[in-house]
Amino acid sequence: MNVALALEGNDWWRRAVFYQLYPRSFQDSNADGIGDLQGIIDRLDHLRGRGDSLGVDAVWLSPTFPSPMKDFGYDVSDYLGVHPDFGDMATMDRLIAECHRRGIRILLDWVPNHTSDQHPWFLDSRSSRSNPHRDWYIWRDARPDGSLPNNWRAVFGGPAWTRDEATGQYYLHSFLEEQPDLNWRNPAVVDAMHDTLRFWLRRGIDGFRIDVMGMIVKHPDLADNPLNPHWSPGSAEPKFLWSSNRNYPDVYEAVRGIRAVLDEFPGSMAVGEVFGTPDEIARYYGSRSGLDGLHLAFNFQFIHEHGHVFTAWDAESMRRIVQNAEAAVPPGALPCWAFGNHDRSRFISRHDHDGRGHERARAAAVLLLMLRGVPFIYYGEEIGMADVGIPDSRLQDPARFHTPGRDPERTPMQWDGSPSRGFSAVEPWLPYGPADVNVAARQHDPASILALYRRAIGLRREFRSLEQGSLRVLPSHPDVFAFERSLAGEPSATVLINTATGVRRASLHSPGRVLLTSRAAGAAGQTGQDFEIGPLEAMVIIHG
Ligand code: NOJ
Repeated sequence: MNVALALEGNDWWRRAVFYQLYPRSFQDSNADGIGDLQGIIDRLDHLRGRGDSLGVDAVWLSPTFPSPMKDFGYDVSDYLGVHPDFGDMATMDRLIAECHRRGIRILLDWVPNHTSDQHPWFLDSRSSRSNPHRDWYIWRDARPDGSLPNNWRAVFGGPAWTRDEATGQYYLHSFLEEQPDLNWRNPAVVDAMHDTLRFWLRRGIDGFRIDVMGMIVKHPDLADNPLNPHWSPGSAEPKFLWSSNRNYPDVYEAVRGIRAVLDEFPGSMAVGEVFGTPDEIARYYGSRSGLDGLHLAFNFQFIHEHGHVFTAWDAESMRRIVQNAEAAVPPGALPCWAFGNHDRSRFISRHDHDGRGHERARAAAVLLLMLRGVPFIYYGEEIGMADVGIPDSRLQDPARFHTPGRDPERTPMQWDGSPSRGFSAVEPWLPYGPADVNVAARQHDPASILALYRRAIGLRREFRSLEQGSLRVLPSHPDVFAFERSLAGEPSATVLINTATGVRRASLHSPGRVLLTSRAAGAAGQTGQDFEIGPLEAMVIIHG
């Protein structure tokens, strides 16, 4: 068996390539149309193992806990279990062991901001005003004029408050009304949630992706959010800012508390889903006294910026995004990059206005894996999956905060070209995409996007400057994003991304060897100082 050793050391995550896996859609092993943990075990060789595997170091599983599935697992009814759709605790233990045997670390998706309304804590909490769990959630009376307790909006639309008839008060829910927000100002909630982390860390989980990290602690008085100065009637801007309930300064103290729990388990780590300005995001890494916050905080600017989906593929945006991130992360910390996830339209579909999304996706693979920092690959990106059109009758996502919801980017992984795509023996929970987009078809094709991903991951391993080196943006043609990766004592590398659909000239400070090009027919080999870079091509050149 050709299994590389796991990355060593407690800071393994600094060198890791991560893979986000949506458990409902990876592999169905028990013929119910829904992916499950046994299915993931059965497919681990794709990620790392025998033969031609991708070679990732860690996986993040979107939520696997018991849940009424109103928000497909982001409404947790038991933090210490496994949803029967996915399997049971014994299968989870085997998955952890099988991952570790292959050198893969495994992260669960921890949802601290809210539970399901079916969580026993909330059932208790809503049962009476005097229940000991009452204050575990955020309950308020209507204002004296009968209006809602404040002006906060739910992320999925509508007011963030729902009145509970039984006790006559409103509870806060930043997402669906079936997702009541926990009260992180109550120390009992903090303790209970910390214990859920310990439970999984003791079982061998290596860390967590933390859902909506920035909302868990709100303004102490739940003050109204101020009007957004950029809003006007009919504009796409939200009417109110989020300053009372997102990145409220007290949240950083809660983050440090979470970090302290992780520090009880050396080698564990967390990556936060955070939104905000680069400076707000940087604060999640720690306080002035050091990196005592999250190990990593996602930078989503290649997916969406200021709430707007990112569709630009131009060198100027790349320069801005990368330079902002580099300037904002504190010394010693690493940026964390994702080009797709389960909440947004897939990369190819976002960049396909001229039918050339596939070429951009190939260049994006190179960019993602060559940037300084920690890359997250969203399942299916490595075979070029695009959004799948979902007929109205099969739409699943209740949170249609962007039409038509998030189903198109959550469709089953396509393992082969058969009618079942190798995913399930029965009709899958969401329809499949085109049959020709599949692992088997790409596996042995050296010109495939899968081969490109594998080579790019391999290069990070091979060249320490690419894995750990610093990043410096280089002067270049306006259409070409160019940067250098270098590390003392190691050969440096130049990465070039031509974002134009025409040929552009590129020049290097010294000649080098082309290690990788995103073009299927692109040639590797020696190159001079001045040369042409093809339409939408990405190149990695090593010097010395
Ligand atoms: C962010 C998650 O990524 C998304 O899928 C979910 O709906 C919300 N948080 C609410 O938990």
